[in-house]
Amino acid sequence: WARLSRRVGAKGTPVARPREKEKTMSTVIKGGTIVAADRTYEADILIEGETIAAIGKDLKGDKTLDAEGALIMPGGIDPHTHLEMPFMGTTAAETWESGTFAALSGGTTLVVDFVIPGPDGMLAALEDWHGKAKRQASADYSFHMCVTGWSKQHFDEMEKVVARGINTFKHFMAYKGALMVNDDEMFASFQRCAALGALPLVHAENGDLVAALQQKYLAEGLTGPEGHAYSRPPEVEGEATNRAIMIADAAGVPVYIVHTSSEQAHEAIRRARQKGIRVFGEPLIQHLTLDETEYFNRQWDHAAQRVMSPPFRDKSHQDSLWAGLSAGSLQVVATDHCAFTTEQKRVGVGNFTKIPNGTGGLEDRMPVLWAKGVETGRLTPNEFVAVTSTNIAQILNIYPQKGAILPGSDADMVVWDPKLSKTISAATQKSIIDYNVFEGFKVSGLPRYTLSRGEVVWSEGQNSQPRPGRGKLVERRPFPAVSKALSQWKELTAPRAVTRSAEHMPIGV
Ligand code: URP
Ligand code: ZN
Ligand code: ZN
Ligand code: ZN
Repeated sequence: WARLSRRVGAKGTPVARPREKEKTMSTVIKGGTIVAADRTYEADILIEGETIAAIGKDLKGDKTLDAEGALIMPGGIDPHTHLEMPFMGTTAAETWESGTFAALSGGTTLVVDFVIPGPDGMLAALEDWHGKAKRQASADYSFHMCVTGWSKQHFDEMEKVVARGINTFKHFMAYKGALMVNDDEMFASFQRCAALGALPLVHAENGDLVAALQQKYLAEGLTGPEGHAYSRPPEVEGEATNRAIMIADAAGVPVYIVHTSSEQAHEAIRRARQKGIRVFGEPLIQHLTLDETEYFNRQWDHAAQRVMSPPFRDKSHQDSLWAGLSAGSLQVVATDHCAFTTEQKRVGVGNFTKIPNGTGGLEDRMPVLWAKGVETGRLTPNEFVAVTSTNIAQILNIYPQKGAILPGSDADMVVWDPKLSKTISAATQKSIIDYNVFEGFKVSGLPRYTLSRGEVVWSEGQNSQPRPGRGKLVERRPFPAVSKALSQWKELTAPRAVTRSAEHMPIGV
């Protein structure tokens, strides 16, 4: 009876027998050219389960995916997103569900989102972010933690956050009165990062100066979105970038500058790297391709939709950022995807300081970078892979699980068809907001397929979305090697008191 009842469910319906260990289906990607950060070559890729099993000639599997005429690249990693972020009195409209679908359709298979602690601290906020992502994400995801103040609670929680698989802590030098931290708080947190083997990230703008300039322009009656750009000139970014690097150096920790938008900030990063300081810079696809004239548009909505911090710059800064990517002084291209609807932006009519800061780009980062970077010869395809995937995987300590096409790596890949083209438009995007800052951009080079851990989650022309909740959390371990090297060097070069015996001392003092 016991045996029988186990096989027969309620109302006598048969229940499946415990299965034999199921053979995982294998897939071969055939006929493509693999583009890695370090080389380009022709080979088939065998995927078993969620990982790459083999790379070579004439591989066979249960299923075949045609990559004839296409390039196979590691899935994109966007290290800077704010999905459903509560910010400036509202919440970013892009959800985890729509945002991760948008990401996959554009070839991005992993997003790293910023957890902002509320009054209940870092761990409570992390639970909140976990919950939203777990239910909705169709792409894999990982988290950065923000440090928005300093106390014993912050000190203690950081260790627990690292134990939960987060090795990066972001600091805002701007947003005075909200998220901003001062130099002493940042120094304390950076030292804590050093001790934990974590990497501090910095939003570098001089927040005191921005606040003062905002008040100055409002008082002068300059209330439109152009005031946003005037109140955050490149110098305030350059100064803060330099200060963040100096504080990190004093704390003995590497530092990663998010959304590097200007020559002034790039110059500070370049100079520090020449001195052997470990600093990374992350330009956004928006700053590489859009400029400040957007804020002078006579349509208020058009200008406000493009309000983000740092603002878009004079065109001359774009050359500097592109040069940094090919020269290696800047390492990563991100989006800072933080998408608000036009209606949300309109809160700032009559006062530009109230316009929620943020723009979208998750879906367009790879195609726009390909069109404006590779198609123009500013970047090689290998450099494209480096700055959209491999470099960030290495910086975040998840390489080669992510960011690589190697046996054993997660089978996160994009089968990239250089011949596919489209004109970017809000009317056809996956993002749920009502406009697109790249509207009208013609791009050629798009995903034919996007694979996430071996599953084809998007194919060209697909409108149905992959299953929400299929995305997995990617935990990231701390970086013992870097902190050890830096602390060793700090110890060797630390100030030391000079030993003086009586004979070396002045007499009678
Ligand atoms: O304007 C921006 N960048 N919004 C998102 C928050 C941030 O500063 O990264
Ligand atoms: Zn201050
Ligand atoms: Zn920021
Ligand atoms: Zn951001």
